[in-house]
Amino acid sequence: MDSAFAAKKRKLDDFGDELPADSIYVPDRNGDGEVSVLFSLKEEVGILARTLKLFEASGVNLTHIESRPCKKSKTEYEFLVTCRENEDGKLQEVVKRLKEKATRLKVLSDDKAEDSIPWFPRKISDLDNFANRILGYGSELDADHPGFTDEVYRARRKEFADIAFNYKHGEPIPQAKYTEAEKKTWGTIFRNLTTLYSTHACREHNHVFPLLMENCGYQEDNIPQLDNISKFLKDCTGFSLRPVAGLLSSRDFLAGLAFRVFHSTQYIRHGSDPMYTPEPDVCHELLGHVPLFADPAFAQFSQEIGLASLGAPDEWIEKLATLYWFTVEFGLCKQDGKIKAYGAGLLSSFGELQYCLSDKPEIRAFEPAKVAVQSYPVTQMQPVYFLAESFEDAQEKVAAYAAQIPRPFAVRYNPYTQSVEILENKNQIKTLAQNIKGEVSTLIDALNKCK
Ligand SMILES: [Fe+2]
Repeated sequence: MDSAFAAKKRKLDDFGDELPADSIYVPDRNGDGEVSVLFSLKEEVGILARTLKLFEASGVNLTHIESRPCKKSKTEYEFLVTCRENEDGKLQEVVKRLKEKATRLKVLSDDKAEDSIPWFPRKISDLDNFANRILGYGSELDADHPGFTDEVYRARRKEFADIAFNYKHGEPIPQAKYTEAEKKTWGTIFRNLTTLYSTHACREHNHVFPLLMENCGYQEDNIPQLDNISKFLKDCTGFSLRPVAGLLSSRDFLAGLAFRVFHSTQYIRHGSDPMYTPEPDVCHELLGHVPLFADPAFAQFSQEIGLASLGAPDEWIEKLATLYWFTVEFGLCKQDGKIKAYGAGLLSSFGELQYCLSDKPEIRAFEPAKVAVQSYPVTQMQPVYFLAESFEDAQEKVAAYAAQIPRPFAVRYNPYTQSVEILENKNQIKTLAQNIKGEVSTLIDALNKCK
C-alpha cells in the first residue's frame, strides 16, 4: 500500500460508503490550513488533469497527491490529495465542485491531528484484535502469586488462557469443566458472601441475584458457565461476556464496555486461600460484576465510560480508568436513606463488603472531576469510597465530565449494527437527528396512549 494511503488506513476504511452531499464540512483541526481530500473518479482519459485544474484555477496549492486502483470498482481510481487553503478561502468552493465530479469523496483532517487519535474498535468484532494483548497473569504467574509453585494450578491456568486466546467474537464461550477442588473454593466464597448481600448489596444486585440462581446455575455447589450468563445478560441489557486470559490495558478494557462487552476471566483463584485473590477471577466476575450488568441503568452507565474512552488521549484514559475503579469496582450508592455497595470489588470480597459500610473508611460525594484524580491502593482495602446518588445521576455526571475530553468528534453506539458511529460532519449528525425524531414520535404516541 502507498505510504500516505497506509497512514490513512483508518480513514480509508471509513471511505467505503461515503456519498457526495450538498453540505460541505472541511475540517482543519490544526488550524494550519492543510486538509486532505480522498475521492474516487471514473476512469476516463484526462479526467484527473481536468479535476486537478479545479485546484489550480482557485489558487489552492496541492502539497501531495497519490493514487491507487479502487478496490470496489474496476472502472474507478481513488486519489488522495493534500492541499493548503489560500487566503481567499476557496477550498470550500473547490471541494464543492470536486463533489460534482467524484463518485465518492471524503474530506479528512490533516495528518498531525488525525494521527494523534489512538486507534479504537469501530465494530464489535474489532475486539478480537486486542483480546490477547494481556498485561499480566494469564498462565504466567508472578512469584508472589498463591499458585506460583503449584504445577497443577499453572497447567489449569494455561487451559483457561488457551480458551480466551482462541476465542473469536460471535462464537459460543466453551464450557469449563471445573474440578471438585475448584467447586469447593467457589462454594466457600458463595456461602460467605450470600450471607451479606441482603444487608450490604444495592437493591439491583439483590433483585438480579435470585434470577441468576434460577436461570444461570448460580449455586453453592456449581460454578456457572460464562456462555449461559452471557445469554442471560444479552436478554436483560444487551451486555455480553467474552473470555479473557488476564488483565487488559485500561484502554482496551474500557473499549469493550463501549460495545456492552465485558471481558471476563474464567479461571478460579488458588484454593489455598479462598478469601483472597491478587487478580480478578471467575468469583469476582460472576458474583461482583455480572448481577449489575443485568440492570439497565447500570449497563448504560458502564457503556458511557466505555464510549468516552474511545480515541481519548492517554491522560484521559487514566482518569476514566480511575472513575471506573471508584464506581464499577468500588462504588457505593444511596438507597432509601442507607448506603449500599454496588462495586464488584466489594460484592466479591467478604472482608471489604463489611468494612466499606463500617465507620472506618472515608466516604465522599461522587464528583467525577475529583474521583478521576484520586489515588488508590490496589492490594489493600480502600481508604476512600465515593457515594453516588443513583446510577442515573452518576451517568449524567460522567457524561458531562467526559464532554471535556479533547476529541474532534462525538461517538454513538449503533445497537443494530453493533458498531460505533463517529459523528463529525453534518450528514452524520442529520441522520442522528432523524433517529431521535423517530424516537420522540414513539414517546409522544406512548404518552398519548398512557392512562
Ligand atoms: Fe473487576
